[in-house]
Amino acid sequence: MSLPKRVVLVGPMGAGKSTIGRMLAKELGYRFLDSDRIIEERCGANIPWIFDVEGEDGFRQRETAMLDELTGEQGTVLATGGGAVMRPENHPLLKKNAVVVYLKTSIEQQVERTRKDRNRPLLQNDDPEAVLRRLFDIRDPLYTRLADIVMYTDRKSPRLVVRQLVNRINPRTPRHKRQRRKEGRDYAQGTSRT
Ligand code: S3P
Repeated sequence: MSLPKRVVLVGPMGAGKSTIGRMLAKELGYRFLDSDRIIEERCGANIPWIFDVEGEDGFRQRETAMLDELTGEQGTVLATGGGAVMRPENHPLLKKNAVVVYLKTSIEQQVERTRKDRNRPLLQNDDPEAVLRRLFDIRDPLYTRLADIVMYTDRKSPRLVVRQLVNRINPRTPRHKRQRRKEGRDYAQGTSRT
């Protein structure tokens, strides 16, 4: 299997899309794109401000336009916002020439990883856990339907998730890399047989 033109990461808030996406891009030699961060850069304002002034609908419009633009690029790993699957018109954009990866994460992990966050407007209320549960019920079937790969991230380091993903996306890459690394070690230790 050759490398896909694009890897698209979907999943809920706190799944680790940005951290894992950045590391995965490095591993594949791809460019990392983070839809939310680019929206903020273009807008010159952060997401809470956009939600405040333009409402969630305004943000979703910006998100669709951004996905349309960013899915034109090749050789990229694209981290999407947790709600990117909510608009049906985004689905063909997310799937276009891409391997879609669902970073699946338990509610407990999502709560833990988003606990101190102030940049996620949907969670700034008395019961963020209830919101995460409600969103999970609605969105999990959408993430699952869109995904080519479902990767569980609970109790795994980002490094392990990335290693497992590289294996799933292109099984040949890590074996060759591992072999080259091993040969390097053997050579350094004077144990090379070649
Ligand atoms: C949202 C998730 C956020 C961001 C916005 C809305 C959502 O992205 O797009 O706050 O609807 O789940 P992350 O998933 O990167 O936190």
